[in-house]
Amino acid sequence: MPTLSVFGAQWGDEGKGKIIDLLAREADYVVRFQGGPNAGHTVVVDGQKFVLHLVPSGILHAGRVNVIGNGVAVDPLALFTEIQELTARGVAVDPRSLRVSGAAHVIFEHHRRLDVLSEHWRGAGRIGTTGRGIGPCYADKAARTGLRVADLLDPERQRARLTAVLAEKNAWIETVHKERPLDLAETLRRYADIAEQLAPFVADTGAEVRAAWRAGKRILFEGAQGAMLDIDHGTYPYVTSSNTGLAAVGTGAGFPPNRVERVLGIAKAYCTRVGEGPFPTEDRGPAGETIREVGKEYGATTGRPRRCGWLDLVALRYALDLNGTTGVVMTNLDVLSVFHEIPVCVSYEIAGRSGAAREFPGQTTPLDGVRPQYVKRAGWSSDISGVRHYRDLPRAAREYVEWVENEIGVPIELLSVGPERDAVIPRA
Ligand code: IMP
Repeated sequence: MPTLSVFGAQWGDEGKGKIIDLLAREADYVVRFQGGPNAGHTVVVDGQKFVLHLVPSGILHAGRVNVIGNGVAVDPLALFTEIQELTARGVAVDPRSLRVSGAAHVIFEHHRRLDVLSEHWRGAGRIGTTGRGIGPCYADKAARTGLRVADLLDPERQRARLTAVLAEKNAWIETVHKERPLDLAETLRRYADIAEQLAPFVADTGAEVRAAWRAGKRILFEGAQGAMLDIDHGTYPYVTSSNTGLAAVGTGAGFPPNRVERVLGIAKAYCTRVGEGPFPTEDRGPAGETIREVGKEYGATTGRPRRCGWLDLVALRYALDLNGTTGVVMTNLDVLSVFHEIPVCVSYEIAGRSGAAREFPGQTTPLDGVRPQYVKRAGWSSDISGVRHYRDLPRAAREYVEWVENEIGVPIELLSVGPERDAVIPRA
């Protein structure tokens, strides 16, 4: 397997977990490089559902090395809850199968508190974050007041830095938000305990992954969230706080992106978004509700109902181009089986501009003002969840896939037609 990077090509929740689990069969290393426990990567194995938040999706295959890179925001309390849950379900997680970068930034309880409190203050302009402390943690990283995993391992350094940081955060919590401050002694005790548990997993993961590559190991980079939630290239400010695509492999894993030979974008056959922000193809009517119910479109991390709508080729082409995508996996194709006609957005109408825009206008025009222009494709109106060979798909389903492929100009390599591991159709 060539070195491979997988990213979400829409607003997150494209079904990356299942695809990474599938590709992990062929990999030696599975590496997370951005995001944190805001992610919810779902994998179904023999009817058992696993939702992974911080632990890479390669963990369900024995013998893989799973890496949490320096670009990930690590909540150690959430990490050990996840490890305990996995262990209780018979999945071995030990320092051989899981490595955590010493340079990854730590999400503390004050980050989670401030995430929720800031959302409250944003009022109507709220982002709809997952409340997992992601934004405040990355903000501290940029402000150089954050603590890294390695800082937790040195008791003196941890005590000194956490004491100083908490004094400032508590002043903010008390004065600005008029809330009760966090208890310093309790915080120090809790993170000193967790540091001991964390220590055996900590490594210089960038050096390890580069050495593994030199030794010919097969490496798979697992992106979280999606291109439209990228802090630079997404629908700012309604985005997450990290870069979500190929470029972040360099910064967030310490691995040169030009060694990544294959870049797979994962996209649903329709679109969903959770949280606030523009979503041009959202369908607020009965069709959107049907997608939500048939596709079980509820957040894997927060349980929130996802906003649902139609495939947006303008946004998808942009996401694929931005990431130098070599192939696409189209997921949840089976969900569209209930529709006789399937609208697909091929261009935007933008107020004040003549003609239809096929190019994504994100850096110059706020997306909320655009009007999607649809083409209606014929549906296939039959259950395809049991199909495993491309030739066995109804003709209208194949025509849908091939038409989309032609529109995006990137090969669709794999289709997913259900949550189970084997519910995939390779393109022959
Ligand atoms: P945050 O990442 O928790 O700060 O949330 C910022 C925005 O990104 C919100 O709209 C979230 O709903 C969205 N978001 C964050 N992580 C995910 C994810 O894994 N899937 C889908 N949306 C996400």
